Amino acid sequence: MYALTLPQLLEQVKRPGAAVAFNFISLDDMLGIVKAAEVESVPVIIQVTQAALAHVGIDYMAAVGMAAARRARVPVCLHLDHATDFALIMQGIKLGFSSVMIDASALAYEENVKATRRVVDVAHSVGVSVEAELGRIGGREDNAMGDGPDWLTDPDQAEQFIAETGVDALAPSVGTAHGIYTGTPAVRFDLIRAIAVRVDKPLVLHGGSDLPDEVVREAIRSGIRKFNVGTDLRIAHARSLKKMFDSVGDVSASHALAARQTGIEAVCEEARKKIRMCRV
Ligand code: G3H
Ligand code: ZN
Repeated sequence: MYALTLPQLLEQVKRPGAAVAFNFISLDDMLGIVKAAEVESVPVIIQVTQAALAHVGIDYMAAVGMAAARRARVPVCLHLDHATDFALIMQGIKLGFSSVMIDASALAYEENVKATRRVVDVAHSVGVSVEAELGRIGGREDNAMGDGPDWLTDPDQAEQFIAETGVDALAPSVGTAHGIYTGTPAVRFDLIRAIAVRVDKPLVLHGGSDLPDEVVREAIRSGIRKFNVGTDLRIAHARSLKKMFDSVGDVSASHALAARQTGIEAVCEEARKKIRMCRV
């Protein structure tokens, strides 16, 4: 199968309900994520950030993503996540990403509109979908740091942003943050609902790791259609390898091979938990 755009994939997800978008940084992540989606029999969004691409290059990651889309027994959307670099987005589109995120949320509103519109014009001309961010999502994701009430998305401005840019999906700032939470996250369900009534495009919840199940479900019931998870997969993978190497107390070629399988299984288990968590 070929990679679907975000709207095409979400057509297959009932409302209220969300597709999970998993961030990958390696082939083993990809294998674990695809296995989880196949076992749970759900369409899946597989995405990679600009920062993760910087480690190995976009060619390798796009090739892994395209192979996954071809081989998976479930529908796959291959998405470029939190990209700020226009040239990189163009390269991603050429290499087969079926969906891209332009993250110009650090810029002033008018500049965000301009940068987003520029990507939409090209992406839509070749059948690729576009997600954009309005307001600023806190925590650590690429270069974005910080949080605060002034970063939250204004529903009226969200409606205007959709009309001015033509994006296919919107990532609003509604109280979540990237990475592990330092306190209890105050997710603004009221704000999600207020944006959802004004915006007729799918809403994306970023910073999906480390959130209680009930919070995620309520966010989905409030209007979230794409739920992004990265950090929890990284932690599950790293912990599984530590546990395995601690228990064998030595390393060899066969341990190294076994460790890869251990990591794939850990990612798969964690991804399955997230998929089940999103069933509302
Ligand atoms: O764009 C990616 C996500 O928002 C992932 O956030 O690492 O906190 O799960 P997370
Ligand atoms: Zn994010």
